[in-house]
Amino acid sequence: MTEAILLVGGKGTRLRPLTVHTPKPMVPAAGVPFLTHQLARARAAGVEHIVLATSYLAEVFEPHFGDGSALGLRLEYVTEDEPLGTGGAIRNVADRLDSAPGDPVLVFNGDILTGLDIAGLVATHRDSGADVSLHLTRVEDPRAFGLVPTDATGRVTAFLEKPETPEEIVTDQINAGAYVFDRSVIDSIPTGRAVSVERETFPGLLADGAHLQGMVDSTYWLDLGTPHAFVRGSADLVLGHAPSPAVPGRCGERLVLEGARIADDAKLTGGTAVSAGAVIGAGAVVEGSTILAGAVVHPGATVVDSLIGAGAVIGERTVVHGSVIGDGAHIGAGNELRHGVRIWCGAVIPDGAVRFSSDQ
Ligand code: GDD
Ligand code: MG
Repeated sequence: MTEAILLVGGKGTRLRPLTVHTPKPMVPAAGVPFLTHQLARARAAGVEHIVLATSYLAEVFEPHFGDGSALGLRLEYVTEDEPLGTGGAIRNVADRLDSAPGDPVLVFNGDILTGLDIAGLVATHRDSGADVSLHLTRVEDPRAFGLVPTDATGRVTAFLEKPETPEEIVTDQINAGAYVFDRSVIDSIPTGRAVSVERETFPGLLADGAHLQGMVDSTYWLDLGTPHAFVRGSADLVLGHAPSPAVPGRCGERLVLEGARIADDAKLTGGTAVSAGAVIGAGAVVEGSTILAGAVVHPGATVVDSLIGAGAVIGERTVVHGSVIGDGAHIGAGNELRHGVRIWCGAVIPDGAVRFSSDQ
């Protein structure tokens, strides 16, 4: 089967503070670093050799995944001295590929949770004879993505990354972040400088008359680039709505990893994941949330659609709703944090310091 390149070098800026100490693909979703799900899905589709293109916090990947044999994979790591952008990163790992010119090579963005039929994308590529084939999905608001209009046969007619004017919003079909490249197209990307595959390579190929083929489907798809999406993706993995062979346990309302301590009357629902060493106190309610290793949710606290970082503490009766608490932050008792608030790693909020609701 085809080999693959995984792009995992981005800074994960929108996910801060989750990505201050941890690169986005290594933030745990459903109890394991998110990347594990992508690796396991690729392996299940028959991929055996994967090259990770790393840059930001590159040093953490190899100690965790090693040679990949635990996942049945052969993994290699290539680190950029300076970030080379998506296209530069792909070109930069070309000498690690076994494929010959004419062979298909899979390329994945490292922050996508999807039920994509990987073998189906490779088959589409082979059958259409395209130079590059792209997984496309439809979204309500395409502005944060690469817009990819196609003709009646699925052939790509344009590639518009992050459109800025209303006239550019010509379709609701977007680049879903999974490609099949003909090996020789990878070799044609310039070396030694930053290249954006979205802003330079794809538009350039189209201008040169190359054949880019789109495969649109309606399977599960989510870019985990924002805190809200990350929490949603983790909960969907736990609930079994998003497919992954790497969820460490049975899918259901909750996933509690070994070494977590949950009070008998605490209520965990909605795809909540609790990592090792975390503690959930008596009467606490945790819904659709991700509680990372060693975090403590004190008695009577309520955590909904939120991510609680490693070692963070949530005080008694505090409410955390749709928010992110950074690693090691300490939220005192009786606070109310809502609406996408992001508390920085190690920050301290005293008892009763923040509230949203009016006092009666
Ligand atoms: N190695 C390396 N080096 N990887 C990088 C670099 C780099 O310089 N820059 C970005 N990446 C990786 C990121 O880690 C991520 O896995 C992937 O490339 C895409 O980068 P994002 O920063 O997540 O891009 P995006 O979400 O704004 O847009 C991309 O994904 C959308 C789908 O979610 C584009 O490909 C859009 O066209 C697409 O619609
Ligand atoms: Mg992204």
